[in-house]
Amino acid sequence: MIDRLGRNITYLRISVTDKCNLRCRYCMPEDGVCKKEHTDMLTEDEIIHAVEVAAELGITKIRITGGEPLVKKNIVSICRRTAAVEGIKEVCLTTNGVLLPQLAKPLKEAGVKRLNLSLDTLQPDKYAYITRIGKMDTFRAGLDAAYAAGFEKIKINSVLIGGFNDDEIEAMANLTLEYPLDMRFIELMPMYDSGDFGIDAYLPYSKVLEKLPEAVAVPQDGGVAKLYRLPGAKGNIGLISPVSAHFCGECNRLRLTSDGKLKPCLHAADEYSIKGLDKAGMKAVFEKAIWNKPAWHGDLDAIHRSQAGRNMNEIGG
Ligand code: GTP
Ligand code: 5AD
Ligand code: SF4
Repeated sequence: MIDRLGRNITYLRISVTDKCNLRCRYCMPEDGVCKKEHTDMLTEDEIIHAVEVAAELGITKIRITGGEPLVKKNIVSICRRTAAVEGIKEVCLTTNGVLLPQLAKPLKEAGVKRLNLSLDTLQPDKYAYITRIGKMDTFRAGLDAAYAAGFEKIKINSVLIGGFNDDEIEAMANLTLEYPLDMRFIELMPMYDSGDFGIDAYLPYSKVLEKLPEAVAVPQDGGVAKLYRLPGAKGNIGLISPVSAHFCGECNRLRLTSDGKLKPCLHAADEYSIKGLDKAGMKAVFEKAIWNKPAWHGDLDAIHRSQAGRNMNEIGG
């Protein structure tokens, strides 16, 4: 479906839970999430009905997100049923990787085509710091399991944080020389109460390019990242710049939270509830949400926080 500014909305990101088995400092508070009533959450059937309605309206790509989507007990079933909906060409998933040793193979068999994994540092002590409770060995086991399961493509997401991981840009980019993966650097987005990073933490994507003089631009793959490649590399470097160079004009995305709110923009406060509705009701709300998608996400920088009013674990990025 086309929104009122002529953007064709083809990509739905579904956050299936706001819970997580890590506590990344830019994403959620240390004490986890405020517990919502179970009855406020979308049921599996409601999620599938939403996917069916979305497909009727022209959505072809679904990304399953969280919190951490793999902590959801029925995640494999949700993925299998989503992938089977007519019109859905691609089901992808964004994960921290912790539970991939158990779930990579079942997810692949359920029809998930691609995985994006979050990794902000290559150093075990820094990994433990930024995730508050994570262990680098666990991540490695998850990445190995993802490769063993044979996913079409693996991308690593790294949130760029000045003073924390800007000294590792070259080392992380060099992973593309060794492994067939895309390494993506994401500008830190100031969410509702996602930690008080100082102004120096907010680095523009151009910082990455300064550190990688050999990288050459290559065509984009339909995603939000500007793509570059190191000579002889097996994968691309991706730069995601919601803060320094927003891409709202070409945005083709809609989001659905685990409590059933459609969000036409990641950083806008607008939400449209589909909880408890039948498919006809859902369709009318989808149409309204898409039609009213904001032109852009408003000021977003070290001083202007996201207007979403939620943390990233509740929206899924
Ligand atoms: P691909 O399907 O591989 O292109 O993945 P993706 O980039 O769409 O998904 P992923 O979950 O890996 O998101 C990577 C980062 O991009 C996250 O930090 C998201 O918050 C950010 N991102 C994705 N879409 C948008 C968007 O529409 N606006 C903004 N501001 N950020 C986005
Ligand atoms: N700024 C930028 N990226 C973020 N993510 C989570 N919180 C933030 C934030 N405040 C990223 C995660 C994950 C993706 C879905 O969103 O690292 O890779
Ligand atoms: Fe969990 Fe992902 Fe948020 Fe980290 S970024 S706390 S892994 S949802």
